Amino acid sequence: MARFRRSAERYSAVAATLHWLLAGLLVFQLGLGAWMVGLPLGLQKYQLFQLHKSLGILILLLSLMRLGWRLAVPPPPLAAWLKPWERTAARAVHWALYGFMVGTPLLGWAAISAAPGPAPTRFFGLFLWPALPIVDGAGKAWQDALGSAHGVFAWTGAALIVVHVAGALKHQFIDRTPELQRMLPFLR
Ligand code: HEM
Repeated sequence: MARFRRSAERYSAVAATLHWLLAGLLVFQLGLGAWMVGLPLGLQKYQLFQLHKSLGILILLLSLMRLGWRLAVPPPPLAAWLKPWERTAARAVHWALYGFMVGTPLLGWAAISAAPGPAPTRFFGLFLWPALPIVDGAGKAWQDALGSAHGVFAWTGAALIVVHVAGALKHQFIDRTPELQRMLPFLR
């Protein structure tokens, strides 16, 4: 059980594993979203949209797990050497990232649910993912508005990721403080 717990300085193995899994999925998903919207209508676009929607739902479920884990197992305190403004900025960026990770897929799911015609989502080709009840079939105007909000959340999230990575790399390589080691799973 020891590896499920956090130490005074390090994140738990579960939190760290979910962190890197979500990081990879989110970067891939942002690139996929940006690419697929510009493609001409056709089978390739349809298949990429299905992949995007399935990955998005997976990201939503993993993000909720990560958030639940964070509330159940509090993370280690922020590194002692951070300046007060850095602590405030780090906390703000962390919570904004949760808003992005949960809000973006919810808005994408809401947008396709609002579509006036059928827009089925096959979760990785396995089963039909349901529409979000409160916006189910709400119409084209809702679909467009929710789709635009989805895009704004996605690109704001991309900017947050850049700030987050820049902060971590600055501590690691310019301040020379062990930042990445705190988030490595299975490191003894
Ligand atoms: C964290 C998860 C997600 C990220 C980071 C993401 C990212 C993106 C990005 C970058 C775009 C292109 C926006 C643009 O430049 O116009 C996009 C478009 C889109 N995404 Fe997602 N997405 C996510 C989850 C989802 C989910 C769960 C669904 C549906 C179940 C979805 C459905 C769509 C649709 C339908 C579009 C096209 C919107 C339009 O044409 O206006 N996305 N997404």
